[in-house]
Amino acid sequence: MNENILIAIAWPYSNAEIHVGNITGSHLPGDIVARYHRLQGNKVLVVSGTDSHGTPVVIAADKEGKPVEEVYKKYHDSFIEVFKGYGITYDMFTTTHSENHFKVSQAMFLALQKNGFLFKQFSKQWYSPSADKFLPDRYVEGTCYICGFEGARSDQCDNCGNVLEPEKLINPRAKTGDGALELRDTEHFYLDLSKLEPDVKNFLQERAPHMRDTVIGESLRKIESEGLKARSITRDLDWGIPVPVEGWTEAGKRIYVWFEAVIGYLSAPIEWSQVSGSKDAWRDWWTNPEAKQFHFIGKDNIFFHTSQWPAELMGAGSAFMEIFAGEEVPLTLPYDVPANQFMNLEGKKISGSGNWGVWGLDALTRFDPDALRYYLTVNMPEAKDSDWDWAEFVARNNNELVATWGNLANRVLAFCYKNWDGHVPDVDVKTLRDSDLSLLATIENGFNTVGAELEAVRLRSALGEAMKLATVVNQYLDVNAPWSAIKVDKAEAGKTIYTALKAIDSLKIMFAPFLPFTCAKLHGFFNYETPLFGEQYTETVKDSLGEHTVLRYKPIEGLQWKPSELQPGKKLNQPGPLFKKLEESVIEEERERLGK
Ligand code: MF3
Ligand code: ZN
Repeated sequence: MNENILIAIAWPYSNAEIHVGNITGSHLPGDIVARYHRLQGNKVLVVSGTDSHGTPVVIAADKEGKPVEEVYKKYHDSFIEVFKGYGITYDMFTTTHSENHFKVSQAMFLALQKNGFLFKQFSKQWYSPSADKFLPDRYVEGTCYICGFEGARSDQCDNCGNVLEPEKLINPRAKTGDGALELRDTEHFYLDLSKLEPDVKNFLQERAPHMRDTVIGESLRKIESEGLKARSITRDLDWGIPVPVEGWTEAGKRIYVWFEAVIGYLSAPIEWSQVSGSKDAWRDWWTNPEAKQFHFIGKDNIFFHTSQWPAELMGAGSAFMEIFAGEEVPLTLPYDVPANQFMNLEGKKISGSGNWGVWGLDALTRFDPDALRYYLTVNMPEAKDSDWDWAEFVARNNNELVATWGNLANRVLAFCYKNWDGHVPDVDVKTLRDSDLSLLATIENGFNTVGAELEAVRLRSALGEAMKLATVVNQYLDVNAPWSAIKVDKAEAGKTIYTALKAIDSLKIMFAPFLPFTCAKLHGFFNYETPLFGEQYTETVKDSLGEHTVLRYKPIEGLQWKPSELQPGKKLNQPGPLFKKLEESVIEEERERLGK
């Protein structure tokens, strides 16, 4: 295979810490798929960044009584710590508050305008006379006019998932307590999605065969029932990207956060090219129609990724490249949007306000990243909402990760290291028995079955398949019992150990996308010269807006998704355990922390 894969992950708002629901919802699945494709020797680019604009961030800054810039940077830096800690290998994790993103977003705006998909219109918006300003989007909460949910924001309802028209909100109130509200006229730019509806529909129907039912179903249903309507893409706000039309920025207007944040999927690869010193490299994923773009997001963001973003791309057509690079070329459209449902915590919705959450950085102070990655994958909300349950976390860690996979690797390596003087048994592979060959054939086939699940982004199932194979190796060892065979016939025991080691060495590759830290450790026990994965690092980018830190990744080249070629007699390194068994007391201790 030699594919160009863009892994585009939802940009987290810089108004709250990242929790396990965010990790399992988008960052972790994106990383698993990215690591798999890298092992396949494909050309992979993983991008996202901090969604630094819009009312969520402004309100957070108001609350903390600090400048928006300072607040956004604080969260941005903590996101980078989370991704380093969990091994989320972004090639470019940047921010929407960069000169590059401003330029790319403005070029997209102008391309849509050039092609006749933008219009200006006056509408009524909530205005606070006491604060003397318009209060867009999340500034105002009220009752959803579609589902009746009382905590709806004026632009979006978290309960029914609909995008709302602010003036229709029932019982509106300012989140910032800015007194009574009134509706005032204000002029904004609109993206005429209705003109693009047939294109979006065609696009979705074409993608339907390989998209999740939950995602395609919701997207098409929405278009069938309501159609795509024009949506305003500017706001009365002073934090954000200037509208590239004379007088608009002076009038206190900025580009709407949802119009520009998705453009990050294009601007981040461009920034990545710039800092990597190969200016046009981003085009391998963006002007190459064969490139596959995957969007890893949560279910609340489906509309923006399956309808609005493709509409922006189709509407801009080749005009974006004309404006941006002086050459008319169309941009590549998304290939798949494997949106996840939500993860709850002990039966309740995760929420920052009541501290009902397992927070990304905090959890890392007590648990190893692979233990967390394991539970977050076996429990990933792929088809329906899932639940983080501390008792289940401990049980699955101990019974599966430790007992089935960790002990398998550890007992075989330790037994071999001790009895074969730190080397793989020097067997003549021609003398391997049928049962040995049959085990190796089963494992070899795993590269196809586990690989097929990973290609299709069925990650729970992919990990389940790999774990089943670990069980098969355990059964093989029970039957061949090398621990007792060694006492009567060391050569026969050597065949079993060689076979089991080779199987473990292969399973290491299959587990690697999910459990990169411990697989890298295991790779070290096998004493390979080239590492399994590359390295994460940070860099500072300076531009006219100041400077921002970006998270990067230095990949290892070459195909590694293939069966082990373990050589008899190979020198090994001193092995040790890969995982830790957790005490039952962890369950109560962790439950104690919740809601405090
Ligand atoms: N910041 C948004 C959220 O947390 C997601 C934005 S995804 C993007 O819901 F692609 F639009 F940036
Ligand atoms: Zn609603």
